[in-house]
Amino acid sequence: MSEREVSAVETLSESKPLKDLFQKCYDFTAADEVKALGLYPYFRPLEENEGPVVKIEGREVIMAGSNNYLGLTSDPRVKEAAKKAIDKYGTSCSGSRYLTGTVNLHVELEEKLAEFMGKEACLLFSTGYQTGQGIIPTLVQRGEYVVSDKDNHACMVMATMMAKGMMANVERYKHNDMDDLERVLKKLPLEAAKLIATDGVFSVSGEIVNLPDLVKLAKRYNAKILVDDAHAVGVIGKGGRGTASEFGLENEVDLTMGTFSKTFASLGGFVVGDRAVINYIKHHTPALIFSASPTAASVAAALKALEILKEEPWRVEKLVRNADKVRQALKSHGFKLMDSRTAIVSVIIGDQHKTLLFWRKLYDAGVFVNAFVRPGVMPGWEMLRTSYMTSHEDWHLDKIVSEFIRVGKELGVIS
Ligand SMILES: Cc1ncc(COP(=O)(O)O)c(C=O)c1O
Repeated sequence: MSEREVSAVETLSESKPLKDLFQKCYDFTAADEVKALGLYPYFRPLEENEGPVVKIEGREVIMAGSNNYLGLTSDPRVKEAAKKAIDKYGTSCSGSRYLTGTVNLHVELEEKLAEFMGKEACLLFSTGYQTGQGIIPTLVQRGEYVVSDKDNHACMVMATMMAKGMMANVERYKHNDMDDLERVLKKLPLEAAKLIATDGVFSVSGEIVNLPDLVKLAKRYNAKILVDDAHAVGVIGKGGRGTASEFGLENEVDLTMGTFSKTFASLGGFVVGDRAVINYIKHHTPALIFSASPTAASVAAALKALEILKEEPWRVEKLVRNADKVRQALKSHGFKLMDSRTAIVSVIIGDQHKTLLFWRKLYDAGVFVNAFVRPGVMPGWEMLRTSYMTSHEDWHLDKIVSEFIRVGKELGVIS
């Protein structure tokens, strides 16, 4: 700072106290307070991870909170594919897809995924988050509209904010409420270009979007459709082909995105759609152009997982059967559940402290679930989100259910 600038700051500080950008960080004590109570459920490092059973703090616990839906992260075939890819291509692609970061495996996975999802073309991203965040601001521009479900995943929420910053119009509708969606669409100019953005399976609750009615509204009001199938591919639809397939509406959904971090036992994201649209996204989205491509090991793992998904459809059936078993058991014991028939079973506890305490008691008993509290959920909707894998066996599921019942009674959540 020059002398003149320093004296300007001094003069200002005499009249008004200077604000510190980091004050909010120093004031942030909530996490430490919960930690002091022993109720902090987040950032717990896994020391070993074999799928349904993991080791944390030297103890084996049953994992009931992972998105490793088909149980493929520890499948020897998937691991071997990743290792071979490292031997051939090294540990990083060291650049963007656009420049030096594309290897044969990226192209092969794009072709195979497009075919699997019944669309003309596919584009890979480095994460699912980047996929969602990249598509919307790239496609929805000045004077155009994105209409987004209020409960969409954060990547879509951030994407709509970016689109807004770039002068696109952003509208939101009540969660999965087609009357409200119609109310919003009705007030927009019919001739204006629009995109309706929705999760296929909502990540917190596991609910499935009302796609048939959404498709009708999109047609009536001149809108294209983007579905985020992060929690749907490998879980619902024919052979795990996702939400559009579940309803036989593959031709009506314009764009479907997904991630490799769940069913595909890897890391990365993808979007499928018409060739021209995918080509446009490929050449315009900063999320792809200015970020290094997914590693060869990640892509090889996802490729192998896709192959297994196609060859072993029983995995999808067992996954949903496992989740249904827990869902029915918890419901019959009086737990209040979110409305879902997917791999996610979310149990509403409805109180911040009780949710964290419930989480802790389950953890101590050897069951790991995810606690969702404010500000992640609205007051009164605090919940424990559980999710299931093909590789859970009955004894894992029985233990999860019996511990839920025991703790639920102890804390007065059920009688
Ligand atoms: C609906 C949804 N979309 C996108 C993502 C982001 O995917 P990833 O974590 O693989 O980046 C997630 C992950 O939790 C998700 O639940």
